[in-house]
Amino acid sequence: MKRELVIVLDFGGQYNQLIARRVREANVYCEIYSYKTDFAKIKEKNPVGIILTGGPASCYEENAATYTKELFEMGIPVLGLCYGAQLMNHLLGGKVERAEQREYGKTLVRVDNSSLLFDGCSPESICWMSHFDYISKVAPGFTVTAVTDNCPCAACEDTSRNLYAIQFHPEVLHTQEGTMMLRNFVRKICKCSGDWVMSSFVQEQIRSIREKVGDGKVLCALSGGVDSSVAAVLLSKAIGNQLTCVFVDHGLLRKNEGDEVEAVFGPNGNYTLNFIRVNAQQRYYSRLAGVTEPEQKRKIIGEEFIRVFEEEAKKIGAVDFLVQGTIYPDVVESGLGGESAVIKSHHNVGGLPDHVDFKEIIEPLRDLFKDEVRKVGLELGIPEYLVYRQPFPGPGLGIRIIGEVTEEKVRIVQDADFIYREEIAKAGLDRSIGQYFAALTNMRSVGVMGDERTYDYAVALRAVNTIDFMTAESANIPYEVLQKVMSRIINEVRGVNRVFYDLTSKPPGTIEFE
Ligand code: XMP
Repeated sequence: MKRELVIVLDFGGQYNQLIARRVREANVYCEIYSYKTDFAKIKEKNPVGIILTGGPASCYEENAATYTKELFEMGIPVLGLCYGAQLMNHLLGGKVERAEQREYGKTLVRVDNSSLLFDGCSPESICWMSHFDYISKVAPGFTVTAVTDNCPCAACEDTSRNLYAIQFHPEVLHTQEGTMMLRNFVRKICKCSGDWVMSSFVQEQIRSIREKVGDGKVLCALSGGVDSSVAAVLLSKAIGNQLTCVFVDHGLLRKNEGDEVEAVFGPNGNYTLNFIRVNAQQRYYSRLAGVTEPEQKRKIIGEEFIRVFEEEAKKIGAVDFLVQGTIYPDVVESGLGGESAVIKSHHNVGGLPDHVDFKEIIEPLRDLFKDEVRKVGLELGIPEYLVYRQPFPGPGLGIRIIGEVTEEKVRIVQDADFIYREEIAKAGLDRSIGQYFAALTNMRSVGVMGDERTYDYAVALRAVNTIDFMTAESANIPYEVLQKVMSRIINEVRGVNRVFYDLTSKPPGTIEFE
């Protein structure tokens, strides 16, 4: 099936994935490409509209990120945002200059809502501004359609050429009506029909997986996380028993997690597939004994996973395809999509097994953002508690236990984390906090319990809110909830006599402790 495509041309701004997400929320499929992408390649994709993103440069400087003017002559609508707006005006004969004062933060904007871009928007609302340069003179043919107190051109357009520019950031939720503006662009100006819906994605994927796999055999490493679970179910619906899922319990999972995964995917579960659970707990504990350095722990856990997986694969013999749960942010962040810097490659690049005999990789979720993966999960009937799982790192509790990992410490952190999650859910906070967990500090201290001296561990509670996991703020959990968690952990978890709440944001902290 041919989808309508909007291209987001990335000039290196920090919100560029958000632009793509808002477009997708308007049920329009879009892809992000770097501004360094050849014009011929962009044309070949046959987009129905183009959005130029923000970026850190000044468009009038030498060597600033730019693009060929031919882009504006394709006859399709183009929308420039922030840097993109300035670049559009600069290239087409307007003037962009440095302002005396930076305009930053929530700002009152007045829009002309007879413009199709602002159709249905209030004449006055709040937008998110972040710029030094401003458009001091719009390009010939353009008229101004929005202003702020400090910005004579907060938006402008030339409807005869289908060109639109917005100085602020409609993609950021601080811009009250920004989602509607982007929706207007793709649905009313580009006239997209809104064919990007997850129910048809599922049907389309199932059909194309069947076609690709034929009667071949497929192997999938199932972690129980959202991405690999959704990928596995999609494959199972498409090819049933031709799929084998290998689930490695490395002993660093959350409490009861191994059994929960088995209950859903195992022989008594809901899906037609071959499920192999490998109980490799002791193997991991013995390889981790005495190891305290965080990166080394990560490396051992990653390597051991590949080894266990390869051993299982060997028993199965040659397969035709290997499934990977890659999602779109992985593609963009590993430098294949947009222009954003590679920050987290070590997180997502698990490494592929060398000794598994397969012909091709299948990545059924490669085009999807996380929220879309969740929608697909629901569409496929996967239980909500699995679909809305918070992120859990590959090395698991291994990086939530500071210092050496032992079976005893794993038990402590599992029990404390279980209580914490239970209380957060009871308080109705489980969907609103980005990520939350208990970690075991390597600190022991003196305490007193039942008239007796104790010398036990301190548990640290972490909870953060974040948009992209690259920056984060500690979550504001009600004191009563924290107190309840503290008292339950002290009373119910042997070996703990102190509980801390971590207030650190990221940066300077990271979300995990190691
Ligand atoms: P940090 O600790 O870097 O975490 O602020 C950001 C996000 O990435 C997850 N994370 C990892 N995920 N392997 C993973 O698969 C890792 O080694 C790893 N380290 C951190 C973390 O849980 C958070 O969501």
